[in-house]
Amino acid sequence: MISKNVKETHKLAGQILKNLILQHKLNKALVIILKGELGTGKTEFVKGLKNFLKIKNNILSPTFVLMKVYDINNAKVNFKNLYHFDLYRLIEGKLKEKDIKEALNTLNIYDILNNKENIVFVEWGENIKMFKENKPYVIEIKQRANKDREIQINNLKVKTQKSNP
Ligand SMILES: Nc1ncnc2c1ncn2[C@@H]1O[C@H](COP(=O)(O)OP(=O)(O)OP(=O)(O)O)[C@@H](O)[C@H]1O
Ligand SMILES: [Mg+2]
Repeated sequence: MISKNVKETHKLAGQILKNLILQHKLNKALVIILKGELGTGKTEFVKGLKNFLKIKNNILSPTFVLMKVYDINNAKVNFKNLYHFDLYRLIEGKLKEKDIKEALNTLNIYDILNNKENIVFVEWGENIKMFKENKPYVIEIKQRANKDREIQINNLKVKTQKSNP
């Protein structure tokens, strides 16, 4: 898929998540890894979920706090919490997997991952093994031109038409 601007990325984010929710069968959190270079739009993607999930607070980048959590208020969605992680500082600091685990443990990562009421988005998490048990989807965003972004999803056939799947 190609997004031509931020607004399109926001719209696609809602459509894509809707499809991922329908496909999610695990009895654990729905985990989505956002992959892409600095400034490609990973955080914008999550910001775009505000409408679909009916989140009241503004979604802000978790770059400086590692994790943010929001209440999902869309009664049609069987999830209650949106978690948004940005692990760039851990990755950039070249921490070992063991130390990353320890850092994430202080945030109760295992409880978060085992709770099927959670949707968990992770920026810079593609090389971290602890997410693997949740069979994460990987959404990759690539900058193609000034504002053009290519958005690819692994393990999913996305329907972005108006027809309800
Ligand atoms: N089509 C587009 N989709 C998303 N963002 C876009 C698009 N076109 C331009 N942008 C701009 O690209 C930037 C994306 O920033 P964002 O913080 O979302 O990136 P990021 O991938 O989360 O980076 P980081 O790895 O530093 O957290 C924003 O400034 C946004 O305005
Ligand atoms: Mg970001």
